[in-house]
Amino acid sequence: ALSTIFSRAQEAATFLRERLDPRLQKPKVAIVCGSGLGGLADAVHEQPRVEIEYSSIPYFPRSTVQGHAGKLLFGFLGTQTSVVLMVGRSHYYEGHSIEDVTFPIRVLKLLEAETIILTNAAGGLNPEYAVGDITLLNDHIFLAGLSGLHPLRGPNVDEFGVRFPPLSDAYDLSLRRCVHTAWQGITKSEKRRLHEGVYAFVSGPSYETRAECRLLRQLGADVVGMSTVPEIIVARHAGMRVLAFSLVTNNAVLTPVPRGDDHLLQSTSSGDLDTILKEGKADHQEVLEAGRQAAQDIQRLVVQVITDVFEK
Ligand code: 6GU
Repeated sequence: ALSTIFSRAQEAATFLRERLDPRLQKPKVAIVCGSGLGGLADAVHEQPRVEIEYSSIPYFPRSTVQGHAGKLLFGFLGTQTSVVLMVGRSHYYEGHSIEDVTFPIRVLKLLEAETIILTNAAGGLNPEYAVGDITLLNDHIFLAGLSGLHPLRGPNVDEFGVRFPPLSDAYDLSLRRCVHTAWQGITKSEKRRLHEGVYAFVSGPSYETRAECRLLRQLGADVVGMSTVPEIIVARHAGMRVLAFSLVTNNAVLTPVPRGDDHLLQSTSSGDLDTILKEGKADHQEVLEAGRQAAQDIQRLVVQVITDVFEK
């Protein structure tokens, strides 16, 4: 028997194909735009170009977060590469199931997208990282997945992939090489840096405490965020090539606290403590603003990589 997930994804893919010019029916690259990173939509050619609201697509979850729209955008990027953009995504913290959060990825696979590029806004844990830097993901830590919240849990959907997919090669090496090459042409006089690093997924919606940031850092994470990893797992299960970027929109840990918070309360004047607590707070407005400024560079990187990989 056909799995429910597969038949639903087929239904959604058929719905989309029926609304698309033949030139747009098989996008070569799928791109997921994170918080404040929807500006990539402006680089998509005017013609042919089709936008389809998530709310109209069978079984698609709707994003409810401010700063995340909710539509698929089909068109061309670079000079001639067909793409589909997810402008806005849904998150587990919104209350969607982990299956629903990753459902759109399965649909993109059925549209025959072979490569997926994911972007997100994330908090920096690595003390070397500055706000506005870009992190190219080369691995992840999925604590929720390790402890049972996994998008591939349940009967394996054989139509997409195997029961026990490896993830040791999830972050495509040759695509990462292309990004570093493309960055040489973009960086010029800029202060912004490109890192490679490890993304830690947290379920959210609260930001991490400082103790949690120290924990994640000690585990080897460089950035932390609330998206992307479930989608990457489903994409890899289905054999898609994956490239993922985090925009560092804030320092998850602004204030070094050498011996933990209890010690602070005993030895710091209340004025200092107020400043520390205020400055150490992650804030959604700050996240959106840093996104606006650095989004342009990620946009350029993505277009350049697409040009280099698919048009040469
Ligand atoms: Cl500091 N944490 C998480 N979990 N997600 C974020 C973030 C921090 N900054 C942007 N997104």
